[in-house]
Amino acid sequence: MAADMKEVDAVIQRRLRSDVALIDQIAHYIISAGGKRIRPVLVLLFSKALGFTGPERFELAATVEFIHTATLLHDDVVDESALRRGRKTANALFGNAASVLVGDFVYSRAFQMMVSVNRMRVLEVLADATNVIAEGEVLQLMNMHDPDIAVEDYLRVIRFKTAKLFEASARLGAVLAAAPHEVEECCADYGRSLGTAFQLVDDLLDYEGSTSELGKNVGDDLREGKPTLPLLVAMSRGSSAERELIRHAIEHGEVARLAEIAEIVRHTGAVAATRDAARAEAEKAREALRVIPPSASREALLEFCVRSVDRSS
Ligand code: IPE
Ligand code: IPE
Ligand code: MG
Ligand code: MG
Repeated sequence: MAADMKEVDAVIQRRLRSDVALIDQIAHYIISAGGKRIRPVLVLLFSKALGFTGPERFELAATVEFIHTATLLHDDVVDESALRRGRKTANALFGNAASVLVGDFVYSRAFQMMVSVNRMRVLEVLADATNVIAEGEVLQLMNMHDPDIAVEDYLRVIRFKTAKLFEASARLGAVLAAAPHEVEECCADYGRSLGTAFQLVDDLLDYEGSTSELGKNVGDDLREGKPTLPLLVAMSRGSSAERELIRHAIEHGEVARLAEIAEIVRHTGAVAATRDAARAEAEKAREALRVIPPSASREALLEFCVRSVDRSS
């Protein structure tokens, strides 16, 4: 993908430009820190796998990365996070107001870019995706500090806040290639399942991962009182004392006993259960690829299914 991603980078650099100095500074600060660039890769792999090689794919790949970047700028304010991509967050360095406003700039720049492709269906897909992401973030806010939410409520949040943009990215590849409806739906299924697996593992790594590998602080979810799957499973399987400890931590955003809670998450089998749930989603993603003809791009998409479950960064 190296050559194609270079093209995407060129679009990103060109489209990031602003005469307003603070916008230029903050937008470049977060973009130059890198990130895995998974969502643009999905646009490129699906469009290529389905036979589309026009330049619009670079524009849309950059567009989904901008949407992702804007949500991160906003997310780190909402989550009061201090570390992202191995660097201080924009909010820690430039303040909340600047982060929110530059997030709005990057977000609305993404809309200018998607309009430039001049296809109504593209606008429809991305308008729906951004709207659902916002719903997911608000739903999550409503679940905060609530240890009694059902697993279904948790899954709904991650499908909305994370899987939806993976879904849109995969779908856009099919839209560009003018693939038949059933094929487009399989691409969307792949993205939704991969994104769900990806966020399940993200939530696991908040207890199991390392800050240096992740480039973001572990324990942030607990500090915010986020009832994620590792905690929900640990509560359902732990002793009553363990359950009470986790309940209290969620209700009060109490991070002081993180090491103890991580140990409970481990020995109750909640780590394994969360990884299994991610593996099941990745398997669904793999199955959705059956409609895609064999190619190097399809192989790379299969590879993603494995890596999304095994990743530690
Ligand atoms: C971070 O996404 C937000 C989540 C959905 C967990 P990524 O893990 O894709 O972030 P970068 O772009 O690689 O930094
Ligand atoms: C990331 O969610 C933001 C969106 C998916 C919109 P999280 O808050 O769970 O992810 P990190 O851990 O900060 O990257
Ligand atoms: Mg968040
Ligand atoms: Mg966050």
